[in-house]
Amino acid sequence: MTQNSPSRMNVRSGLPIRSTAARYCRHGIKRGFISGAASILLLSLMACRAVGTIPTITLIPSPTTTPIPSPTLTPPPTPTPNPSPSPSPTSLPISDARLVRGPYLQSVTPNSVIVVWETDVPGSGEVAYGETDLYSARATDGTIGARHAVTLTGLSPYTVYHYRVEMDGALLAGGGDFTFRTAAGPGQTAFTFAVLGDTRTQHEVHRGVVERIVAMSPDFVLHTGDLVEVGSDPHQWEVFFEIERELIARAPLFPTLGNHEGDHANYFEAFYLPGNERWYVFDYGPARFVCLQVDGFAEFGPGSQQYAWLEDVLADSSQDWLVVYFHAPPYTSVEDGYEEIVRQVLPPLFERYGVDLVFNGHKHNYERNEVRGVTYVVTGGGGAPLYAEQEREPTQAAFALAYHFVLVEVNGGWLGVTAISDGGEVLDRFELRME
Ligand SMILES: [Fe+2]
Repeated sequence: MTQNSPSRMNVRSGLPIRSTAARYCRHGIKRGFISGAASILLLSLMACRAVGTIPTITLIPSPTTTPIPSPTLTPPPTPTPNPSPSPSPTSLPISDARLVRGPYLQSVTPNSVIVVWETDVPGSGEVAYGETDLYSARATDGTIGARHAVTLTGLSPYTVYHYRVEMDGALLAGGGDFTFRTAAGPGQTAFTFAVLGDTRTQHEVHRGVVERIVAMSPDFVLHTGDLVEVGSDPHQWEVFFEIERELIARAPLFPTLGNHEGDHANYFEAFYLPGNERWYVFDYGPARFVCLQVDGFAEFGPGSQQYAWLEDVLADSSQDWLVVYFHAPPYTSVEDGYEEIVRQVLPPLFERYGVDLVFNGHKHNYERNEVRGVTYVVTGGGGAPLYAEQEREPTQAAFALAYHFVLVEVNGGWLGVTAISDGGEVLDRFELRME
């Protein structure tokens, strides 16, 4: 689907608004039969390690014989709501224990959120929370340990809450006060979220991008994968959570698996996500968000469990907006061959069911392609070395070689997307409107 074209210049420096666009979305597409099913292919794309090089992947024909790895489920803990008055912050001693991860927020809904943290020594964990820093309620997971995941329930939709984490009746240094918003309910049509990806290397770049996002105060964050360089390395996860700390203590993080996570248990132990945590869906205000596992470790073609699930959640949506995110893009001007596989399988579904916006990573740059009514955004500029454009996609609407993130603003039938560099430059801006 691509054609040869001259390489383009780096457009990073000195950019005002690089381009603008508006598009009208179509909806009301009904579920139908997918014909001409492409054969399922798996990839082995673990070769993108060398700094400054394009990752290479090996395509492995795999009709229907490769089983989907069994999900490593990490069920949310049983909530123990205990809405009793909380002592004032000054009435508690300071714990000798040290926070080594978090707190961070997971799987926010209009009425709940999971608060996760880890200390250097085991103990009992408790969350004090409420609509003010007087913390009118408390909750615990009822376990003694170093890792705690406490579900706060009975919350009001799209409401700001304060919280702090405690241990054995003492305050944890750095454990709060933080604030977050619960998810927008069906009647709440305005919200914001940020998207970043490929944060696996160049930690200071990652840190700078995170600081920019924190300043924008998004309601939640999507990550397009390759959070870390080697998913099996516990130290790299510690670095990731340290850099992201100020962001994900305030904005719930919804990541997708990248090839560098290596499908490792560390990912599933760290995150408390909906469904099987590999592919999952959540609704937020007038939008439905669908996360897929397109990382080389799961089948996603016709006949696979993931494909059937995807078709169901797209067909069943009555939300105004449909947003899908996964790691390896179907449209990119930095080709490695895998995009052809993704392109055969997923865009036909997106077009059939009226998907509006797709976010991908894997390519360390920013790129927007407009293809038959669907907008595809590659946002892989969270820290990994940049990939220059090679053969430009004929559907390309914008490209930038820059570390960056994307900010999305939704207001009813209007959706605005802005790509912002680590230096604060606007790299691209476009908007979508419902018909
Ligand atoms: Fe990747």
